Amino acid sequence: EGRMIIAIDGPAAAGKGTLSRQIAETYGFHHLDTGLTYRATAKALLDAGLPLDDEAVAERMALAVELAGLDRDVLSAHEIGEAASKIAVMPAVRRALVEAQRAFSKRLPGTVLDGRDIGTVVCPDAPVKLYVTASPEVRARRRHDEILSKGDSADFDAIFADVKKRDERDMGRADSPLKPADDAHLLDTSEMSIEAAFLAAKALVDAAL
Ligand code: C5P
Repeated sequence: EGRMIIAIDGPAAAGKGTLSRQIAETYGFHHLDTGLTYRATAKALLDAGLPLDDEAVAERMALAVELAGLDRDVLSAHEIGEAASKIAVMPAVRRALVEAQRAFSKRLPGTVLDGRDIGTVVCPDAPVKLYVTASPEVRARRRHDEILSKGDSADFDAIFADVKKRDERDMGRADSPLKPADDAHLLDTSEMSIEAAFLAAKALVDAAL
């Protein structure tokens, strides 16, 4: 009788965040956006004026991250995401954050963790694994529209270039590269509404409960 863990992985701007929150809310499970742990580590370094390329320093910051204090609004800045993907290549940083993420995954009655390596590394035994993706064009378009809807200006070509650069870094790193687990269900949301993606994910969770 295992506890329920739902692992949701995929590239930036694929819609993992919205989906994970909806699934967690539907089942009354705890949710952790693991990207925020990398972002919090990066922000602590940036705020302290410390370098992003010193693994021992970054590890110390990672060990000090408190899951309870993660605030998406404070961590959403583009520069923080870029810095996060740089320090996320460091094995010592990953080790520290993965340990905290694994401890979180054991909470009852169940958990939803979303990120890049949940199904492959953090929770390889999760009973439900989803790999949520969408074409780079669609992901860049969604991010572009999201920024415009907040009344800010955005340049599609720059966002598209960023999405591809982030993919390369996340898929190309040696430690825990972004890729679907062998037993993950692939969910390509390129042509799906948020509601359709949610219903597809919910059907997979219901089948495992
Ligand atoms: O998903 P988000 O954009 O918040 O993640 C920021 C960066 O943190 C990602 O680009 C990725 O490099 C890193 N990350 C990771 N492993 C995770 C979650 C995020 O390497 N499980």
